[in-house]
Amino acid sequence: MTRDMSTKVGNARTVLDSSSPAADLATVGLTKASEQPIPELEVRVSELDVSQWKGDLLAIAVFEGGMSDEAFGILDKDLNGLLADVAAEEDFTGKSGQASFVRIPGQGFKRIGLVGLGKLEKSSLARPWKGVGESIAAAAKTAQASSVGIVLSALDQEGVDSNAGASAITSGVILGSFEDTRFKSEPKAPKLKRVEILGLGSAPELEKKLQNLVKVCTGVISARQLVNAPANVLTPSALAEEAVSIASSHSDVFTAKILDEAECKELKMGSYLGVAAASVNPPKFIHLQYKPPSGDVKTKLAIIGKGLTFDSGGYNLKIQGSSIELMKFDMGGAAAALGAAKALGAIQPLGVEVHFIVAACENMISGAGMRPGDILTASNGKTIEVNNTDAEGRLTLADALVYACNLKVDKIVDLATLTGACIIALGNEIGGMFTPSDELAEELSQASSAAGEKLWRMPMEENYWEMMKSGIADMVNTGGRPGGSITASLFLKQFVDEKIPWAHLDIAGPVWNEKKKMATGFAVGTLVEWVSKHASSS
Ligand code: BES
Ligand code: MN
Ligand code: ZN
Repeated sequence: MTRDMSTKVGNARTVLDSSSPAADLATVGLTKASEQPIPELEVRVSELDVSQWKGDLLAIAVFEGGMSDEAFGILDKDLNGLLADVAAEEDFTGKSGQASFVRIPGQGFKRIGLVGLGKLEKSSLARPWKGVGESIAAAAKTAQASSVGIVLSALDQEGVDSNAGASAITSGVILGSFEDTRFKSEPKAPKLKRVEILGLGSAPELEKKLQNLVKVCTGVISARQLVNAPANVLTPSALAEEAVSIASSHSDVFTAKILDEAECKELKMGSYLGVAAASVNPPKFIHLQYKPPSGDVKTKLAIIGKGLTFDSGGYNLKIQGSSIELMKFDMGGAAAALGAAKALGAIQPLGVEVHFIVAACENMISGAGMRPGDILTASNGKTIEVNNTDAEGRLTLADALVYACNLKVDKIVDLATLTGACIIALGNEIGGMFTPSDELAEELSQASSAAGEKLWRMPMEENYWEMMKSGIADMVNTGGRPGGSITASLFLKQFVDEKIPWAHLDIAGPVWNEKKKMATGFAVGTLVEWVSKHASSS
């Protein structure tokens, strides 16, 4: 067997080993994504008086009932009573996300309007405020606006974290204005170029926060693009190339290593390779390493993402109603990891080293594939009886977890669209968090609420391990329907060094937006927050 070397990217080389992309068959269906570079929006905090602002669309945020506030009256006077007119005309009350805009000829701005922040007491959560940003983005889209001013003086009051609110609204605007049109025959370029926050003074701290936020949003959009891309375009090799491209665009801080099938075999990754065996598109094990541009490393972290570019179920084929047609999203964990990597490459936190790991492959069917009942041997020597080929994500994660532990990292987080059971338990907006470590649970809860994403800690009930016992091997890979996301997490635990704090995030629900038929980029924000909390300031 020929064995080509792993490719190191960074200062040395910037291309993937020549054999790998070519190893994919020609794209089924002849589809190619058109180039859609992620727009770099200009985001600023402005001290300008509202009436002085110039641009396309001016949005004034108000709490429910806030139109009778003194501050609103002063603002309205500045604008010659325009706001009261808008409110009256459209029956605007300030409910969360409500928006009404009018065209105004002869002013510095083309359109002005009100957006509702909802009830004051409820708005302490970041979540509804993201929606406020999305409403502004929708209004900007209708108006074909290239510049938007958002007046947030309503947030400047006691009991309101105005910086958090401004950040959430801004990220709603940025993410809401992005449309993935790479696969349309006529792709569109987004119009919005500039966002200004008014009414909060000069706010240097917020300014800094917003600059980081723009980078996080770029990571979120990149994750969405990866998840949206169909499996005939986004193969394991294409995913590996994305990691390589992230590394080469920040070669000062990243090194990428892509292991091919032969190298994974040498590392005895039988569990991962068992899943990959049926696909004509070869597996690619991705290891992207971030090192700070200067100073000592105090903490080493690993972020592992499930990277199934397609999950047919294998011989336990997914049947009607099991969303087989959506299974391109089964690399949502990998997309979150790589999206976070992209953002962190731009933010460049100090004192922290991060390893991004994805055992990328496809779960398909062929005569060369694993059968139900086969026994796989993972890289830590443990044996697994595959009683269901559709529980493939955990098989790939097993070897990725062993690999991460061998790097002697201080903490590990894995993210995976792992179980339908987790969707049944928590629905589409909340990710499941499984960890034996209370400390790590607390860190991730804080990071997720700062990012406006929802995680809920689930129990890792040891008694349920009973369901995972095999007559012939060390374990089976599925324990049946009851507590399906819990037994999955107990399986993963078998491959983690007990001394390393580890958390598993099941993001099967929140990775996809059913209504918009689009990826969400879920968990990128949480991961960036989590890593940033481990950074040192110098
Ligand atoms: N990728 C799926 C999980 C999934 C299912 C995500 C539906 C989103 C929507 C995973 O590989 C899978 O197939 N899990 C099985 C496990 C079962 C066989 C124990 C499931 O959840 O049905
Ligand atoms: Mn599956
Ligand atoms: Zn899967």
